[in-house]
Amino acid sequence: MTARLVVAVDGPAAAGKGTLARALAEALGLPYLDTGLLYRGVGRRMLDAGLSPEADAGGEARALLPIDLARSDLRTPEVDRAASLVAAQPAVRAALLAFQRGFGAAHGAVLDGRDIGTVIFPDAPVKLFVTASVPARAERRWRQLNPGRNPDLGTLRVVAAELEARDRADAARAVAPLRAAADAVEIDSDRLDARGVLETALDIVKARGFAPGPHQRPSL
Ligand code: CDP
Repeated sequence: MTARLVVAVDGPAAAGKGTLARALAEALGLPYLDTGLLYRGVGRRMLDAGLSPEADAGGEARALLPIDLARSDLRTPEVDRAASLVAAQPAVRAALLAFQRGFGAAHGAVLDGRDIGTVIFPDAPVKLFVTASVPARAERRWRQLNPGRNPDLGTLRVVAAELEARDRADAARAVAPLRAAADAVEIDSDRLDARGVLETALDIVKARGFAPGPHQRPSL
């Protein structure tokens, strides 16, 4: 039986965490969890209930269902802000902790978020912190949401300001703030395309003694 591999992928908004984490999970034969969806789902539930995302969201976090994560309206600017606001609440983070730990505990997993390497899996054997410049992240996020179109500079400035505001809030909160774990390896995705980021990450995984491939799953 091979050792359980948990890969923590943290970083600021729209840095390319999801793209990397999904590709890594595929290459390593591991399940993937986008933990941001959990906070987006809670934020969405607060908005739907007509509640301010700054009000106590613990009840909505405890009531979160898989169907809340499958919605197509979780990536709007309104939900970006709501997710960041509910994510600052200790009761929300506490309600979502066991699910995230359980997801990775049995067979290993790749998880992306803000606090995977610092709080959820502080003992993860591989921790990556993905960064990119604000303009690169703003353009990437806009293109994700508007495929096949070209952004104008004014629009990109608005997206950049929203990303920076959310990063500031995520980094400044008292509970599980956005920051790289002391033992995380930083990957700057400005100078690399998606394949380059994946190759860099796979080299780090191999250097930790884990080999890519489905044999990564523990035998029963
Ligand atoms: O995709 P993007 O990087 O813009 O955001 P996300 O990963 O979907 O996360 C949305 C929000 O949820 C973040 O701004 C954080 O406030 C919060 N979050 C968190 O606090 N902890 C996590 N592990 C994941 C997300």
